Amino acid sequence: MPIPERLNPTFASARQPVVDLVKEARKRLIVALDVPDAASALALVAELENTCQWFKVGLELFIAAGPAVIKPLVARGHSVFLDLKLHDIPNTVAGAVRSAAALGVKMMTLHAAGGPAMLTAARAALEGIAERGELEKLPELLAVTVLTSMDQAQVKAVGLGRSPGEQVELLARMGLEAGMRGFVCSPQEVARVRSLTGPEGVLVVPGIRPAGAAIGDQKRIATPAEALRSGASFLVVGRPITQASDPAEAAEAILREMAEALEAPALEA
Ligand code: C5P
Repeated sequence: MPIPERLNPTFASARQPVVDLVKEARKRLIVALDVPDAASALALVAELENTCQWFKVGLELFIAAGPAVIKPLVARGHSVFLDLKLHDIPNTVAGAVRSAAALGVKMMTLHAAGGPAMLTAARAALEGIAERGELEKLPELLAVTVLTSMDQAQVKAVGLGRSPGEQVELLARMGLEAGMRGFVCSPQEVARVRSLTGPEGVLVVPGIRPAGAAIGDQKRIATPAEALRSGASFLVVGRPITQASDPAEAAEAILREMAEALEAPALEA
């Protein structure tokens, strides 16, 4: 399958001017638009679009506003991550992947726990689009391992005997065998997943909290710098930006922290 647009830029190896590092950081920060309607989402994007390039549309916004909310974001040149965490029978997920690809999103999620047949069907759906030449750029498929809100007690409550870390590793290995290279995992497991994927892995990490930020319902968290140093390709940040009194200023502070971390070479494998 042709590799979609390169999503995983390499880390700065030598000292680079701070302005370049902030630019590099900008390519790796995804703002979660977890708001209840299109008007609030577009207002937030207008506030943030000079600072941020990637926006994540998740369940709350997508269910309220539908696919129409994606169009203006793509039209304004933003990169859209559609985070619907698909989990259904292979045929249904393959159809959903085709529909999502047609919206022009650059990344999308499905649950690794859907199993190898579901992941393979999703990849085959994209390959079909590529073979038919229907789209220039295909979205990157990301397999969600274990949600960052799940701690040991939550994992046990759904009948899994393993620790969250062990479960993440099992799902990442299974995903790799099914041909996936993109994963969503918590900052606490990203080094482990990176060691499995090597530099080609596209690792998207939520559960990011700058020092002093409210934790909310997240459990397995880290600061932006810690997550990048552990091997994250992209960071997903919601409330620390969207609920800040000045979202653009909060995003800029996070980008500065990311830029400092990018000065240090990342864990490569
Ligand atoms: O507000 P906060 O920074 O906690 O938002 C994190 C975002 O990342 C939410 O939109 C959530 O759905 C998403 N996410 C997550 N854990 C995952 C996958 C996605 O928190 N494993």
